[in-house]
Amino acid sequence: MSVTGIFLIVFVTVHVSGNSLLFKDDGGLAFNAYSQLMSSNPLIQLVSKVNYALILLHVVLAIVLTIKNRSARTQGYAIPGGNISSSWASRNMTILGIVLLVFLLIHLRGFWYEMHFGSLSLDSNGNKDLYALVVAAYSRWWYVAIYVISMVSLAFHLNHGFSSAFQSLGINHTKYTPIIEGVGRIFSILVPLIFALMPIYLFFKG
Ligand code: HEM
Repeated sequence: MSVTGIFLIVFVTVHVSGNSLLFKDDGGLAFNAYSQLMSSNPLIQLVSKVNYALILLHVVLAIVLTIKNRSARTQGYAIPGGNISSSWASRNMTILGIVLLVFLLIHLRGFWYEMHFGSLSLDSNGNKDLYALVVAAYSRWWYVAIYVISMVSLAFHLNHGFSSAFQSLGINHTKYTPIIEGVGRIFSILVPLIFALMPIYLFFKG
């Protein structure tokens, strides 16, 4: 789970950086050029395939782990909330993961599918006008709400996932573990915040 999780952490970092071009006030030309480059470069396409496989593997491993944990504890805790010393996010990784999986299905159907199999018009540079699709999607308040709620789930999921990924790899050091936890905390707030600001910004920009 940790190795696939770390790859996905790298993926969301690249994704949030590239998508920040949505904040550029150029009618989406830079964002469309970036998307075209990402979907035509063979090396990026290979990484992209690995990414799909790792998302699936991450989900399958999560299901296996949840079933194992359930069968390891057939009885509930004697005291309600007996595992309270663990964080809320760590106790709810499964439900947070399910919210993110539903989000991902909506997200890929809305953007990825249209980019690859839809009939998008072209912008003034001759690139597929993915920006127009994104702007149209975020003109609906409920679509924006789905994204914002999902990004809150992503924040909690990353908050626990970031430090626990390094811990599972055996990196448990008096000096470095607090640094990893600190970086994880900033990362898990900053990345979902920037992602959430994209639909909010485009909704109000109109
Ligand atoms: C507001 C935030 C986001 C925007 C505007 C956005 C936009 C996009 C767009 C336009 C695509 C299609 C690009 C293409 O296929 O060439 C895409 C693909 C994708 N997005 Fe997002 N995204 C956002 C957040 C996220 C988040 C939070 C995740 C994961 C947790 C995510 C995961 C993916 C994945 C896995 C793909 C497919 C990538 C590939 O084909 O290699 N996205 N996104």
